[in-house]
Amino acid sequence: MVYYPIKDVSMTVADTYESMRARLSAIVPDAELRYKAEIADEVLRLKEERNAVILAHNYMEPALFVSVPDYRGDSLDLSRRAATTDRDVIVFCGVRFMAETAKILSPHKTVLLPAEKAGCSLAASITAKDVIDLKKRFPGVPVVSYVNTYADVKAESDICCTSGNAAAVVESLAADTVIFLPDEYLARNTARETGKHVIFPTTLPPEKADTELDYQLIGWPGRCEVHEQFTVEDVENARRQFPDVIVLAHPECPPDVIDVVDFSGGTNAMINYVRDHPAGRYLLLTECSMGDNIASENPDKEMVRICSIRCPHMNEITLEDTRDALRYNRYVIEVPEDIRSRAYRAVKRMIEINASG
Ligand code: 13P
Ligand code: SF4
Repeated sequence: MVYYPIKDVSMTVADTYESMRARLSAIVPDAELRYKAEIADEVLRLKEERNAVILAHNYMEPALFVSVPDYRGDSLDLSRRAATTDRDVIVFCGVRFMAETAKILSPHKTVLLPAEKAGCSLAASITAKDVIDLKKRFPGVPVVSYVNTYADVKAESDICCTSGNAAAVVESLAADTVIFLPDEYLARNTARETGKHVIFPTTLPPEKADTELDYQLIGWPGRCEVHEQFTVEDVENARRQFPDVIVLAHPECPPDVIDVVDFSGGTNAMINYVRDHPAGRYLLLTECSMGDNIASENPDKEMVRICSIRCPHMNEITLEDTRDALRYNRYVIEVPEDIRSRAYRAVKRMIEINASG
């Protein structure tokens, strides 16, 4: 998804600054904008030199988000871009599992992640061995893995999903039972959307035999450290203060929160909702930078600024790191071929499902 025209490389630093100022004057202090414009200008020059494409997740900091990416979007959108680029280098301004997914889809490209770690609490919550053990316990049951997992977990899965297509992926399997990993809340929210009953075998009493259990979705107790923090009280407080506010939440939030909001969807779906909806005031229950990015695109709409929850992993990626990634060719993402080829099947199968949030 491209929100703004991509900057013409013939533009000067002053032009870059002006184009950033037009978007961000109400959001980023001027001195910072001037400094960031110089770095953005260098990133754009290096990008051409290295025949690179820059993909940026919707959670990137505003100065990066508006200035250097070729494509901006959610996990699903950026996976599709990574699969079809003709550039030599993919710079992934997002977290490690996203850059790994780009490598899985484009093994012959150089994929760079601008920060060495940039992890994710969901991806860290499950290992390939955990999946193998679940498959032994529930033989023949297909495994859906959220794209927020590492390559070895994807390699043990039948198909991946993102927040934008989780229900469509589960329904596409036409199976009575599905293993759905690793986000507990996305599993609970998807179970409700698809009318399925979910269990979490890791938290069940050991004496309960698997045959006695009533389930259609088998989940895992992983959580997003950002979205698990939002509460029903946050929504109530916001509505008390701003009775006309429209509240949007990511499906990684707890189900009781999803119950009381006006709309739930992946990051692209929330962006589109604000763009297309006539109301004047919104609260987003998701990573805070996205509120700034939406505000910069919708100056006539108010984003209620009670958000104080940042994703520490997404926040590791800055314009400076993006410049250094191109300058020093770092940090190169590698996925061993035996894992990559198996993970590829699961990611490709997801991409082929024609659904998005
Ligand atoms: P989206 O796929 O909705 O962009 O979400 C990715 C993510 O990490 C949310 O926390
Ligand atoms: Fe992972 Fe949550 Fe950060 Fe998204 S916001 S990258 S799910 S920790």
